[in-house]
Amino acid sequence: MSEERKSTPVHVNHQVTWSGFYKKSLHERQTQLKLVFPHVFTSSTPSSVVSSVYVTPDTSPCNSPISVDFSTKTNDQNIHPHSIVNNDNAVKCLINKLEAFSNKKSFPINGLDENIADNMIENCIGTIGLPVGLALNFIINGKPIIIPMAIEEPSVIAGVSGSAKTISAYNGFKATTTERNTIVAQVCLLDISQENMNFAVDKILHHKSEIIATANKYCDNMVKRGGGVYDINVRRIPRKANRNRKHYQINLNNFTEWLVVHITIDVCNAMGANCASTVAEGVAPFLAELTGGRIGLRIVSNLNVERMSKASFRIPLHMLAYKSLSGKEVAARIIEAYEWAEVDPYRATTHNKGIMNGIDAVALATGQDWRAIEAAAHAWACNGVRTDNDNFQSSNSYGSLTTYWIEKDEQLATAGKTDDECLMFCGELELPITVGTAGGVLKTNQVYTYNLAIMGNPNAQELAMSMVCIGLAQNFAALRALATEGIQRGHMSLHAKNVAIAAGCPTNAVTSVAQKMIEKGKITLSSAKNFIEIYMNEQVDIHKNLLSNSFKIEDKLEKVCDNLSTLSSQVQCNIN
Ligand code: MEV
Repeated sequence: MSEERKSTPVHVNHQVTWSGFYKKSLHERQTQLKLVFPHVFTSSTPSSVVSSVYVTPDTSPCNSPISVDFSTKTNDQNIHPHSIVNNDNAVKCLINKLEAFSNKKSFPINGLDENIADNMIENCIGTIGLPVGLALNFIINGKPIIIPMAIEEPSVIAGVSGSAKTISAYNGFKATTTERNTIVAQVCLLDISQENMNFAVDKILHHKSEIIATANKYCDNMVKRGGGVYDINVRRIPRKANRNRKHYQINLNNFTEWLVVHITIDVCNAMGANCASTVAEGVAPFLAELTGGRIGLRIVSNLNVERMSKASFRIPLHMLAYKSLSGKEVAARIIEAYEWAEVDPYRATTHNKGIMNGIDAVALATGQDWRAIEAAAHAWACNGVRTDNDNFQSSNSYGSLTTYWIEKDEQLATAGKTDDECLMFCGELELPITVGTAGGVLKTNQVYTYNLAIMGNPNAQELAMSMVCIGLAQNFAALRALATEGIQRGHMSLHAKNVAIAAGCPTNAVTSVAQKMIEKGKITLSSAKNFIEIYMNEQVDIHKNLLSNSFKIEDKLEKVCDNLSTLSSQVQCNIN
């Protein structure tokens, strides 16, 4: 593995108080973000976005007043102010319409343009949106950072922000990553007989520099940027019989070992998958010529143990105290929870799923290949170990990606603190994370550019470090909640909001409808529909009153006008 480096922390210039951010309305949060990041959310899109990305009309500031077209037909009702007073349905339609207008997007975090999407995949029929939120309170390697997350699941952002608050109140997160931003391309060579295997391996190792030079022709852009192919390794893997007992052997070859060549490429700030696959396809004929083997698959490997990222924290035990539970008790329960995940794949899968709740959400918000990250994480969770010849081997036992332990702070002990005061609760997460902040699909969706800008435009390593910290924060939050009061209470209020939305609740009534369901202890679609009906009827009454008042004023005005015109005729007569 490459030498670990002391990370360059992600830097955020703005020291801001984010307290109360959670309680603000969506519009207030967006306004606050514009104030905090004036260079990101200017009246136009950031220069890096404008230069390369199609700018939708929604990204320009929406300063023009909203005009309401009352004559639009909805549900076959011709809505007109004068017909509203006696028509409840029409009032409901009008309320919905006004709501739609008040939701008009003027903030640029609002998704992918349909025309771009159409050019990205086959058979495109539209796009899908996800909520984007901010994980707060993170201090990584001494620097504060705000981390955008795209996720549909409630409680995750609250969870990571809550645990980050506890951790940052002490020393924050420490994060490290590997020095070089690498990716591995694999070329599989077949049909090499057992007698020729040693010869084939020697040939490759002997011609390493020629192979590197040939391979570099297929990634000259990386070479120009200071990266490119820099290492070649060979792996011999014994062939196994096909697992399916019904399998009928049709190919005549009878090789007994796979000869797999690993080409390691420094991909600078890119994720690098495309580059790796191009290099693999390009260099394969030369490898076949050298070894006499037949070319098999040539493709990137998504298990990249050269790109490990690690996050850790260390807090005094007493900081874990919760309600009537002491810090020591909570710590012991979290350690139990972790130790269970180490030995039970059923629990470990859920435990690691939670970690990926955090990591995937940042990956989605910043345009990363989250499937590659997921696949690598779970491969690593099979207790990834390295053998002498630098190969990754799975121990075939799926376990926790995080580790937790308690240690004694010797400095505090020497300073005469009691045993309990010296105990520190420690957590760590290490896994391979392959991400990029240049190239790939990053320029296709301007939201990635905004989200990366909120993070202070990290390079690939800095992004990976933030992601591993989010994963650790999520797991710590989940275990702390599960080991104490459980997660359902906190989860339910957000879940109730989702149920209200699913029942068709107007957005400005979601909080109150959710609250009513929680108070009733019945969070179901039918209960939500009942409360929505009550809300809509209340709104109808309010609007009826407002409109009838305005008509009364109109009548009075008409009378005043009539009087004025009578008066003016009289005056005119008198003058004449
Ligand atoms: C839910 O999405 C994630 C958790 O189940 C993770 C865990 O159990 O550790 C809460």
